[in-house]
Amino acid sequence: MSDTVTEVRNETVPYFPMDRDARCPFAPPDGTRVLRESNPVSRVEIWDGSRPWLVTGHAEQKALLGDPRISVDEKLPGFPHWNEGMAANVGMRPKSVFNSDGADHSHFRRMMTRAFTFKRVKELRPFIQETTDELIDTILAGPKPADLVATLALPLPSIVISQMLGVPYDSHAFFQENSVKSVDRYATPEENMQAFAAMFMFMLELVEKKMSEPADDVLSDFARHAKEGEIDAAEAAQMGLGMLIAGHETSANMIALGTLALLENPDQLSILRSGDDKVVGDAVEELMRYLGIIHNGQRRIALEDIEISGQHINAGDGVIIELSSSNWDPAAFPEPERLDLTRSARHHTGFGFGPHQCIGQQLARAELQIVYTSIFERIPDIRIAVPTEQIEFKSDRLAYGVYSLPITW
Ligand code: HEM
Repeated sequence: MSDTVTEVRNETVPYFPMDRDARCPFAPPDGTRVLRESNPVSRVEIWDGSRPWLVTGHAEQKALLGDPRISVDEKLPGFPHWNEGMAANVGMRPKSVFNSDGADHSHFRRMMTRAFTFKRVKELRPFIQETTDELIDTILAGPKPADLVATLALPLPSIVISQMLGVPYDSHAFFQENSVKSVDRYATPEENMQAFAAMFMFMLELVEKKMSEPADDVLSDFARHAKEGEIDAAEAAQMGLGMLIAGHETSANMIALGTLALLENPDQLSILRSGDDKVVGDAVEELMRYLGIIHNGQRRIALEDIEISGQHINAGDGVIIELSSSNWDPAAFPEPERLDLTRSARHHTGFGFGPHQCIGQQLARAELQIVYTSIFERIPDIRIAVPTEQIEFKSDRLAYGVYSLPITW
């Protein structure tokens, strides 16, 4: 029996977040498996010494994510913040889709989901394909090895979300740098706050401009809602900022890490290569499950007492839903450690579950389906240019991925 289980029985709880196992860069931290086998709803200790619940089971996560007694209200005492900076700056963040429940949440969410209609995403597909092709042309014309992150994985989602929102793409370096800093676990609260404030002010100015000079883009839609008094300008800026941050680094990590996983599993890559649209669609779902890039735990707080998995969660207890571990729960996915593009993985929680499920998931799916297909079609003899041990993984970021991925062909 592992040490972690013994510690839990002795009431010294494990620390969260946990380290990943260097032997398999794709596996969630083994400590989450150990905890799940002990009890899928268990106490952990976090950075401020508090002891929220960590939920690691697939069924338990779905039950809690869909339970109205569980809240995202980060202002409530006992909320298990990601880090000191997020806790210190909680008063600065306006109400948004990310931190509101019930009717308030539906109010924000309705305005945002209108931007992501099936039709709008379908119309974006040719633009995503064209942009992908241009970026790959540049890779092929450039020196070898090339860094897949800098040349394709980061710019593609960044260009797409900037285009959709109506944010000038030339500000992407500013947003990229500050969005990383605003949630960096190791940055000081002041650094977190400065980065957030810089991005917020930029976005607010843009919203104010679009209130008087609207264009055909999503930020202009938000500016119109502000003009009509449905929300204020700060809330419109926060919605735009939320989308920009949520919408590029997540997809970027999936593109680079997914490419690496496929190259490391040539039998699976050949399934993708010879497959039709349905095969590619299923492959993206399996990669979403397998890679577990959202690995730092979605933060919640209990509004009422809840009984689950033999545990009693008290009203006011912090709750952390660790999505990557539940996507390796063998009760939901047999042999979870096997990347199997033919399995039915559509019930994964890579995009969350319940009322806060990802708003941009159809856009992310479109990007991933197009990119994975195009990379292996256009660069048929692509390979990783360094030994796997030399690849630096983003274990210290809110979303898991690689800092760079040298490729050659
Ligand atoms: C592969 C890429 C992506 C992944 C893995 C991902 C993952 C997630 C997850 C797990 C959640 C749920 C958070 C929670 O319950 O606490 C979420 C929510 C959200 N995502 Fe994504 N996302 C991706 C792409 C995008 C894109 C492209 C956009 C927008 C352009 C976006 C916008 C949002 C928004 C606005 C929410 C908040 C929804 C709410 O609270 O009601 N995401 N995402």
